[in-house]
Amino acid sequence: MDLYCVMGNPVEHSRSPRIHARFAQLCGQQLEYGRRLIPLGAFAEGIAAFRREAAERGDAALGCNITVPFKFEAAALAQHTSERALLAQAVNTLCFEADGGIRADNTDGIGLVNDIVRNAGVPLQGKALLLIGAGGAAAGVLGPLLDAGASRVVVANRTVDKAVELVRRHAAIALRHGASLEAWALDEVPGAFDVVVNATASSLAGDAVPVKASVLREGGLAVDMMYGPAAAGFMAWAEAHGAVARDGLGMLVEQAAESFEIWRGVRPPSAQVLAEIRAELK
Ligand code: ATR
Repeated sequence: MDLYCVMGNPVEHSRSPRIHARFAQLCGQQLEYGRRLIPLGAFAEGIAAFRREAAERGDAALGCNITVPFKFEAAALAQHTSERALLAQAVNTLCFEADGGIRADNTDGIGLVNDIVRNAGVPLQGKALLLIGAGGAAAGVLGPLLDAGASRVVVANRTVDKAVELVRRHAAIALRHGASLEAWALDEVPGAFDVVVNATASSLAGDAVPVKASVLREGGLAVDMMYGPAAAGFMAWAEAHGAVARDGLGMLVEQAAESFEIWRGVRPPSAQVLAEIRAELK
């Protein structure tokens, strides 16, 4: 059997096993996707153990998704890391090659883009986009948002220096696309945006949305990268100010779809699975 898993700490809350099992079922793929709790400080050992235990059982460990807090150390184990993962400085997908090598990628950003463009039906070409936050979650999506053709992108963060650094790291990609890319403090963001993406942990902390409502355009899209109760505050705020609110469940399913395609060479019906998972959560 071909084996995959999600590795993290904590990992019991992860919906990835459910999503990938459904993808496999709908695509007629024979595989098992589990979850593995990896002790802090023992990520490399966790990977080695997954591969060794699979081999001992006569199975093949072919890949894994990486979640908190290991996304930043996963690249160090890989012989090849994709350009988008290098830019994000984070990895969420590993492929284990037959020769023992490891390839690393990051599908979070393209997952967000696909959810916005395909599932929400909002093209990003030529749009003004505000990314709130400059931590790991924001870094994972900025490159793909620029690749999707947004023409004006502002990164706003509580700690402005981190937004400046993230913008600096993405300057070449913005230039390549002819997009403007700026860093601002949260309360100084100029203008209004077609799409606002919340990549901060502020709702988790129960804090108010850290930007003024004038950044939202009437009928614009406001996406929180979280889902469930963690996204509720931002979504209620966005709706109260005339925007269309969206949580991060679509991004979760779409990043999984991208990983699945990398591993299996088959595109799963992600919109169908998103609808199913959303119904299960109600
Ligand atoms: P993640 O991987 O989820 O992005 P992170 O790297 O710790 O986690 O980043 C958390 C992000 O949420 C940062 O942009 C952080 O702002 P700072 O860089 O200034 O710390 C932001 N954040 C967290 N709590 C916040 C709050 N109460 N108000 C505004 N921004 C907040």
